Amino acid sequence: MASDRLKNRKAIVTGAASGIGAATAARLRADGAQVFTADVQGDVDFSGDLTAPDANARLIEQAVAAMGGLDTLVPCAGISAFHPLEGHDDAYFLRVLEVNLVAVFRLVRDATPHLKAAGNGRIVTIGSTTSSHGDEGLSAYSASKHAVLGFTKSVAAELGPFGVTVNCVQPGAIATPMTAPAFTQMPEFRTFWENKAPLRRLGQPEDIADVIAFLCSDDARFMSGHGVWVDGGAMVRH
Ligand SMILES: NC(=O)c1ccc[n+]([C@@H]2O[C@H](COP(=O)([O-])OP(=O)(O)OC[C@H]3O[C@@H](n4cnc5c(N)ncnc54)[C@H](O)[C@@H]3O)[C@@H](O)[C@H]2O)c1
Repeated sequence: MASDRLKNRKAIVTGAASGIGAATAARLRADGAQVFTADVQGDVDFSGDLTAPDANARLIEQAVAAMGGLDTLVPCAGISAFHPLEGHDDAYFLRVLEVNLVAVFRLVRDATPHLKAAGNGRIVTIGSTTSSHGDEGLSAYSASKHAVLGFTKSVAAELGPFGVTVNCVQPGAIATPMTAPAFTQMPEFRTFWENKAPLRRLGQPEDIADVIAFLCSDDARFMSGHGVWVDGGAMVRH
């Protein structure tokens, strides 16, 4: 339910043209935040590939100018694809790390002076169930998402003294354009995840966005450095 609990927040959301990022931008706005959106596609405030070395610095500069400050970061941009280990070329492995990890590192690093100055900064990174587990064909993706969780914990330790909380949301199987091809081409894969979750359904982008909004709010002020599962209970079952 929408509220005004984020009414003083000034947030950047990346990957905001689609899926979880789009739902998150909408939810933060519904709760009163100013939101500056970024993506490589779609109708966003900052258009560009966030792996370009200077892209995150330019994004932050433009966001601060547009909103009059910056206190909240939600880097949702990400890529995934199944790739068996044999034949997995270097370029694709590195690309996954670049988008899912290095671009997140650069955004957080370059935003840190603003988040420290705000005194109550919030960072919510996007991990995955594969931040804690592995799966066939997901070596690059899982490596990147394990790394994002570790990165989140270290940044939480470093920025906590400045009032910044840093958490990592770990979604389960969510129905977005990222997962649509797999769920369409492999109905059994969809059924597997629906049944694995005790709540017996796939997640929707809004299921994740609502938790991200909570973590950005004052209600989550004493919560930092954690991976937060939002998976319908899927990962409690073998
Ligand atoms: N959908 C799921 O089941 C699921 C589960 C766990 C984690 N996640 C994570 O959630 C995040 C959002 O995924 P989604 O499912 O909403 O996917 P999505 O494909 O719907 O959205 C991802 C967005 O990121 C953007 N993007 C990708 N590379 C970019 C780049 N280099 N520069 C700028 N923008 C770029 C894309 O254009 C797209 O709009 C990702 O980090 C993903 O790994 C998704």
